[in-house]
Amino acid sequence: MQRTPVKALLSATQPSDDVLVQGWVRTRRDSKAFSFIEINDGSCLKGVQVIADATLPDYPEVSRAATGASIEVRGQLVASKGQGQQWEVVARTLKVLGEADATYPLQKKGHSLEFLREIAHLRPRSNLFGAVFRVRSRLAFAIHEFFQSRGFLYVHTPIITGSDCEGAGELFRVSTLDPKAPPLTPEGKVDYAQDFFARPTFLTVSGQLEAEAFATALANVYTFGPTFRAENSNTSRHAAEFWMIEPEMAFCDLWGNMDLAESFVKHLVRDAREHCAADLEFFGNFVDKGLSARLDFVLDRPFQRCSYTEAIEILNRSGRTWEHPVQWGDNLQSEHERFLAEEHFRGPVTVHDYPRTLKPFYMRVNDDGRTVRAMDLLVPGIGEIIGGSQREERLPILEEAMRAHHLSPADYGWYLDLRRYGTVPHAGFGLGFERLLMFVTGVGNIRDVIPFARTPGNAAY
Ligand code: 4AD
Ligand code: MG
Repeated sequence: MQRTPVKALLSATQPSDDVLVQGWVRTRRDSKAFSFIEINDGSCLKGVQVIADATLPDYPEVSRAATGASIEVRGQLVASKGQGQQWEVVARTLKVLGEADATYPLQKKGHSLEFLREIAHLRPRSNLFGAVFRVRSRLAFAIHEFFQSRGFLYVHTPIITGSDCEGAGELFRVSTLDPKAPPLTPEGKVDYAQDFFARPTFLTVSGQLEAEAFATALANVYTFGPTFRAENSNTSRHAAEFWMIEPEMAFCDLWGNMDLAESFVKHLVRDAREHCAADLEFFGNFVDKGLSARLDFVLDRPFQRCSYTEAIEILNRSGRTWEHPVQWGDNLQSEHERFLAEEHFRGPVTVHDYPRTLKPFYMRVNDDGRTVRAMDLLVPGIGEIIGGSQREERLPILEEAMRAHHLSPADYGWYLDLRRYGTVPHAGFGLGFERLLMFVTGVGNIRDVIPFARTPGNAAY
């Protein structure tokens, strides 16, 4: 007999004579005549209540069914007489598959997130993390649905790469050389010509450059995969390994790019609302009271747009004293991004046309010569969740931008070919999947929306 997921039991439309439930015990209450056991199997937030009558032949098993134990129950699905649930299972047979003793760390609610991070292998069994990872799974699916239904092709860009797309030098090296005695060049440098790939290689920080090659052949493409940054920032929004979604569109400019980003984010919020309603309600009750109103607001209003130059004026007119004062040419810090999204625009805002000195080499240079066609989508509570741009499609200007960023055009011959042969205006962006999940769930730390977080000093598991 096949098990029925708890979710299906709880949404049953009629009773059933014979069902099989398998899962983990959340709680058990014993009285003289019965035991009530709540079983959760991760299919939904709620567990199903099982009633085990003390006269059952299997009743001695019940005493072994402690919190955390895995059990299987066969019995009848009946309308519940008790409060708080519509259906319950009256056990006919009950078997403990794996016991859990009193050292099981998730005995009751009320553990801190910090503690739960230290048991990342067990935390998916808690309400909060079950909900987070159901939403994560659903939205991963919704991402493919969004692009596939619009005719975008999914491209698998490499994870090991020789290029530093963002030019920020935050690369994890991939090498099989002996770290104690690497081969050296006559100048005394490590000789990567003798390494596995016969050249220096790294974990990718972004699939964009390769996505551009496919967009200039297949027109509309997207990537969705892991990216890696050896960024030594110990913040609640930075991970060393995170997932990024990167659409890339030929025949598209910055405005088309912003339109896509807005429909994309709205689609994902709407999808989570529709398919993860119970989990979002849980987040609204226990994580972030303002969540529901904030998500409504995101769906109801067009995203605001403002140039970097305007943003600097807004910040300087605000009358605030900033920890990091800003002038034209400075990077926006988290406090500035959050002020714009939370207090000034009070909702998502796309800041565009940044100084070229702040952005990577590939962004299209504006006629003013000092700004580029960049866009960052900032949202309340988090700041940047999307970074993107229209790309520089003009060969000589791109070569010059590379030199200005201390990159050698000779190392990027294949990328420049995309401009040599049939170049077109094109644009794309990257959405940080974990940042989106933080936004949709209200969870405040990136470590809590990724199964096994990798952050500076931490790669347990
Ligand atoms: O703004 P970024 O660096 O843009 C790019 O990588 C472009 N190549 C994307 C493109 O145009 N195809 O990163 C994009 C997004 C950020 O807005 C942020 O949401 C997320 O990736 N991100 C991180 N998320 C978690 N931890 C980190 N260390 C992140 N760095 C960037
Ligand atoms: Mg960025």
